Amino acid sequence: MSDLQNGREAWASRIGLILAMAGNAIGLGNFLRFPVQAAQNGGGAFMIPYFVALLLLGIPLMWVEWAIGRRGGQFGYGTAAGAFGALCKTRGSAKLANYLGALGISIPIAFAIYYNYIESWTLAYSVFSVTGKYFGITERGAMLDFLQSFQGLKVTEHFSGLATAFVFFFITLAINVYVLSHSVAQGIERLAKIAMPTLFIFALILVVRVITLGTPDPAVPENSVYNGFGFLWNPDFSQITQAKPWLAAAGQIFFTLSIGTGSILTYASYMKKKDDLALTGLTTSITNEFAEVVCGGSIAIPVAVAFFGVAQTADIAKGGAFNLGFAAMPIIFQKLPLAHILGSMWFLLLFFAGITSSVALCSPAMSFLQDQMKMSRQKAAMVVGTVLLICGLPVVLFLGHGFLDEMDFWAGTFGLVVFAMIEVILFAWVFGMKRAWAEIEEGADIKVPSIFRFIIQFITPVYLIGLLFFWGWQDGIPILMMEGKPAADIPYLWGARLMMCGLTVICLYLIARAYKNNIIRDEVVADLRS
Ligand code: PHE
Repeated sequence: MSDLQNGREAWASRIGLILAMAGNAIGLGNFLRFPVQAAQNGGGAFMIPYFVALLLLGIPLMWVEWAIGRRGGQFGYGTAAGAFGALCKTRGSAKLANYLGALGISIPIAFAIYYNYIESWTLAYSVFSVTGKYFGITERGAMLDFLQSFQGLKVTEHFSGLATAFVFFFITLAINVYVLSHSVAQGIERLAKIAMPTLFIFALILVVRVITLGTPDPAVPENSVYNGFGFLWNPDFSQITQAKPWLAAAGQIFFTLSIGTGSILTYASYMKKKDDLALTGLTTSITNEFAEVVCGGSIAIPVAVAFFGVAQTADIAKGGAFNLGFAAMPIIFQKLPLAHILGSMWFLLLFFAGITSSVALCSPAMSFLQDQMKMSRQKAAMVVGTVLLICGLPVVLFLGHGFLDEMDFWAGTFGLVVFAMIEVILFAWVFGMKRAWAEIEEGADIKVPSIFRFIIQFITPVYLIGLLFFWGWQDGIPILMMEGKPAADIPYLWGARLMMCGLTVICLYLIARAYKNNIIRDEVVADLRS
């Protein structure tokens, strides 16, 4: 692969592309979100809706997003604003599609804004593990206090206000901007080539450490790693007759595979027309699933059961991913030899997982500013960094008022399904399934089973409509109406919504400008009219 195609950048090598895509997908979701979702939603039984969602939503949408992205790249477009239009047959529909594509820039950037903050906690905690800052705290409650005072939610002797949190937030932002200010081959691809192998080595060391723990306290034989695996994987089939695990599994598949934000689309736009996407997209998905189910499932929950027992672990899992990752794990490490090293390995693993995902979330905005606003890469990186900084401030300051959670629902959960729905309808129905299938098969190194043609055309869209309906009904409406929210939080939640709408409006405005400057054109559809 060369470095430039159609004046746009390109990946330097196929392995680089795979690692970058895997880096995009493998994130905090694999090691923190997945085990908690599985534990909360029926354990082993959760894996049934999970694998159904992987086969009927995850893998098909992965191919769809790659194909839209690779095609868009041929026309010089690296985001849905442009790439969507290139799927349409008339100027009117292309224009509408391109404006809908604004979501493919604003959703990932909103996602990046809060994801970066969580990522900065992992960096902070790796430093705390080296310096031993949390050492000596051995109770879960006290460790939670430590976390909350770091987050500025409580006053303790450990932190005075948010100063430390801000320092790590700025450092994390700076690292992101640094990576983004290099070409995709020199920045994202090089980062992935270092971060991904390191991540897997750390993960394997931690998995082996956990498995070899056996029963840490022989006086309490039921607290063992084996019971930990049992707790996570013993199926509770009574749950899967309800909607909740199905929604949770689909949400996890979207989140973990990075589909429905437009970031995969942007990465794929740096491919060449004849580069294989069928096998490479599948490899990315499988690598992500290995990191999630095998590695993510074998660390935090099993070790928590070995030290805290099943009942407390269930309680931790109920408290959420941060409770598990940042409050339970630091206590466990202290009970093991080489505590400093194991602790920093865990948090660095999370940081590497996070950074390769956060740069991916910023990449649609980067590509739009470079390709459609004709900004230099450095300038685009500064603009993205400034947006992350300014919009990140309320996320840091108003964490306790639910600002982050509100963004996580609309940008990180609901938004993905909406955007994926637009993608699959445009691809399978507007572009047309015959062309769509040819696009997937173009350059393919494997024969994609033809059943997927049927799945992409019918099953995936229907599944998505069902999800939107149930989700909107069960969670969306109560969240939209802010049911049960403390009155004091309501202005902040509106603030979060306003910010996300504001980002979308800015994207719409910039698309309009790109149209005016003739940088997005509808003429690209000419090849479809024949
Ligand atoms: N897949 C990432 C994770 O598991 C999150 C992510 C979603 C990254 C969407 C990019 C785009 O943490």
